[in-house]
Amino acid sequence: MSKYITTPIYYVNGEAHIGHAYTTFIADTLARYERLKGEDTFFLTGTDEHGQKIEESAAKNNKPTQQFADEISATFKNLWDEFDISYDKFIRTTDEDHMRGVQKAFEVMYEKGDIYKDFYEGHYCVSCETFFPETQLVDGEFCPDCGRSTNIVKEESYFFRLSNYEDKLLKYYAEHEDFIMPRSRANEVINFVKGGLRDLSVTRTSFSWGVKMPSSLNDDKHVMYVWLDALLNYITALGYGGDEANMNYWPADIHFVGKDILRFHAIYWPAFLMSLDLPLPKHIGAHGWWTRDGEKMSKSKGNVVSPKEVADAYGAENLRYFMLREVPFGQDGDFSQRAFIDRINSELSNDLGNLLNRIIGMSGKYSDFEIDSVDVVKYHSKELEAMNAVLDSLDSFLEKLQPHRYLEELWKLFAIGNGVIQESEPWVKMKNGQKDEALATVAVVANILAKAAVMLHPVMPKTTNTIADALAFEINTESYKELVVDKKLLKVFNIKKVPPLFPRVEEPLMQEAPKAEPTPIVKEEKKSKPVAQEDDNLIEIGQFFETSLKVGTVVEAEEVPKSKKLLKLQIDLGEESNRQVVAGIKEFYSPQDLIGTQVCVVANLKPAKLMGMMSAGMLLAAKDEDGLCLIRPEKPKKAGTPVG
Ligand code: MSP
Repeated sequence: MSKYITTPIYYVNGEAHIGHAYTTFIADTLARYERLKGEDTFFLTGTDEHGQKIEESAAKNNKPTQQFADEISATFKNLWDEFDISYDKFIRTTDEDHMRGVQKAFEVMYEKGDIYKDFYEGHYCVSCETFFPETQLVDGEFCPDCGRSTNIVKEESYFFRLSNYEDKLLKYYAEHEDFIMPRSRANEVINFVKGGLRDLSVTRTSFSWGVKMPSSLNDDKHVMYVWLDALLNYITALGYGGDEANMNYWPADIHFVGKDILRFHAIYWPAFLMSLDLPLPKHIGAHGWWTRDGEKMSKSKGNVVSPKEVADAYGAENLRYFMLREVPFGQDGDFSQRAFIDRINSELSNDLGNLLNRIIGMSGKYSDFEIDSVDVVKYHSKELEAMNAVLDSLDSFLEKLQPHRYLEELWKLFAIGNGVIQESEPWVKMKNGQKDEALATVAVVANILAKAAVMLHPVMPKTTNTIADALAFEINTESYKELVVDKKLLKVFNIKKVPPLFPRVEEPLMQEAPKAEPTPIVKEEKKSKPVAQEDDNLIEIGQFFETSLKVGTVVEAEEVPKSKKLLKLQIDLGEESNRQVVAGIKEFYSPQDLIGTQVCVVANLKPAKLMGMMSAGMLLAAKDEDGLCLIRPEKPKKAGTPVG
């Protein structure tokens, strides 16, 4: 059976950060694991290069769009090559054969009657490359996903009949419980579909940086919507619409994605595939979001973690280990140098590195580096049994997409190895003339290390090759079968000395991230490790306090001309006596109702322009079918009093 594993294709509007590295590490680990087991595996990654966002980024950088895309795409490819990512294909959506495949898919859907032409009028978020209905906008203006300002766009568009697939999708989710992993993420998708699907605009006329329409439609005004173009990469990479030689890998076993793009993969993509009469991917694995020292990473804060910088400081494989071990798949995780260093020193250096050093040292001293498993069963059957139980349990953790549990279990092998040395004290046995017993202890630990190295190989390929080199064997499908599946012991061999694998790290090797602006409310100290939560929607108290809420007194209020919804307010926030906030409350309050009253303000919101006016904050309000009401303090409070 073959396996097909993918990462998202990365936008070429900026360089890779550790969020990108994380998805790529997980996918690479799984691909390597499948290959180790002897599966014929195809692993795809690449770059997503079309759309308005890329066109605008290139313009900002004063570069022709294609050149800009070429340059950024190359930074991703070079980084993955430097990290030894074992992709079988690096796709670019500007590749000719990809674009031909997209046109072919469009034609098939069109001929089937799933695509039709109409007009679209709506609010468009350029950053998310998505239209939103007015009801979903925040404050009648902002994108519900990224919070940026949206633009009103009216244009002719081709539409995909997504609404026709509502029932089919719901049926599919119900019949395939593990389609969306982890399961806790499935409900948000199911509820979204149950809420009703509108047909999806799948072309644009407002810019030209996209895949052209198929020539059979003879409609040059339009280019394809970037998400239609991007999602199709998963089949064009296998030759869809051209030389279909690799289509036997379809359907994908798993598409790895971040939680922010789950909806595209779990709703649009299956619907497109149904329209194309192709089978659906077996799993969509949605992971959580990475923060740095508890703060959201952003270019403006200057706290984005560059995977290259971390790898140069701490080693790329140590980073892989840390990211996979630190966070339960699906949950948000935090990158902190402290947590990273702790894991390097205790798990990699102490548990694993020292064990190897001890074996090299003892075998050198006791038997001139020769290891022989001849007496292992006689003296250490208990340890062999414990070791085999761990080995047998491992498979299921990767199958359930729990790399952190996989590694946690795997580490039990080093505990067994370190424990048996402690207990058997081979140095005492050597003194007492029990050389056979002492050598059996060294040999059982060498066997444990060898098997652990095989199983750790998908996570740390180079490091484990060095361990295998020291133990005079090679890690490949055959040794996996012999040592792990058939539980054979190593033959007689000579240990090779290797330099220590994991030097201890005494202090942070990178500059700390710049500290975030202090907010007026005292923050709870952040935990460096994520708390395991069943419900991914829960937040830490510290996250709540990242929002600065304050009591404000409305000093001035006026209507915004030509706007049905907006009022312009000047609010006294204590230290700042004239904060301008433009709020979408005109249908519910007149300016006179507001002047002199108190409101609750989100005071640390990034300023944005609404109908040409700066707005620096947001009012708390509650809205239901009876209308909207502002949330206000029960008794008058000094302007600027923190809420929370
Ligand atoms: N181009 C689309 C994907 C198209 S797939 C057909 C895209 N690109 S992206 O470059 O913006 O994001 C790629 C991946 O990186 C997404 O899975 C996203 O979730 C992930 N991450 C971006 N920031 C992240 C963190 N801070 N933490 C973890 N992953 C994050 O979306």
